Amino acid sequence: MSSFNDELHAMTLSEDGSYTAYSKEYDEHYHSTKDGALNESLYKHIIPAFEHVRERKEVNILDICYGLGFNTLATILYYKEHAPEKKVHIFSPELDASLVKSLTNFSYPKTFEPLREIIDAISETGVYEDEQFYIEVFLGDAREYVKRFSDTFDIVYQDAFSPNTNPVLWTKEYFTAIAQAMKKEGILTTYSTALKTRLALYKNGFFVHLNKGENFRNATLASLTQLQAYELVDMEHKIACNPDAKPLSDDDLCVDYR
Ligand SMILES: C[S@@+](CC[C@H](N)C(=O)[O-])C[C@H]1O[C@@H](n2cnc3c(N)ncnc32)[C@H](O)[C@@H]1O
Repeated sequence: MSSFNDELHAMTLSEDGSYTAYSKEYDEHYHSTKDGALNESLYKHIIPAFEHVRERKEVNILDICYGLGFNTLATILYYKEHAPEKKVHIFSPELDASLVKSLTNFSYPKTFEPLREIIDAISETGVYEDEQFYIEVFLGDAREYVKRFSDTFDIVYQDAFSPNTNPVLWTKEYFTAIAQAMKKEGILTTYSTALKTRLALYKNGFFVHLNKGENFRNATLASLTQLQAYELVDMEHKIACNPDAKPLSDDDLCVDYR
């Protein structure tokens, strides 16, 4: 095993055989240990989003947040195999600069071995580029970073720590900025099925869909135009059944990102 462990992180074996990490600061794992780090990345984010952009020649992805890099790295592998002609730009904010630096020593799944050069480049400079991919990891606050973009992203991987642990990345106002950064026909993927998450999306004009399958616990797909291939969540019915439910709001958290 590598020397990734430090005072704030502990490496954990997840149930699909891939390692994730536990954050002592957030008291939470980076991935579902039950679904598995790699499985979660593939089934909740990469594959449904890929199906949505299958016909496009070029794809812009916002990966919130880089963390251990599973979503970005598994995307590279998946597109190399399934769409080698597609140009892919990935933009990923991450607050924890020392984590990104340490990832050169993380015990990634064996399938990531061909990505060694990319893992090292991102860890050292935050940027990687070749004929197919442009990857940029921004070391700073995702809330600030997202404001730089307008009508840009075909895909958003919404993979922050949970709404209870890291609420600033799940508020109504946060998703307003995300909707603004996305293209009208874009898709947002997230593991969260919490009603407050879905309400924050719905209040910003997103259609909310159920992402379910045999290999993983239920997740959410959201889009600004309705998806035909997925079951639509009847949000008006949910609201009627839970009249006191509210989305998270910046006002309740006393944060000001204007
Ligand atoms: C659940 S992990 C992301 C896992 C990652 N998608 C992966 O595949 O490995 C959440 C990450 O969000 C980062 N984070 C928390 N608040 C942030 C913020 N305001 N801006 C940018 N990154 C943030 C944490 O440092 C952590 O690395």
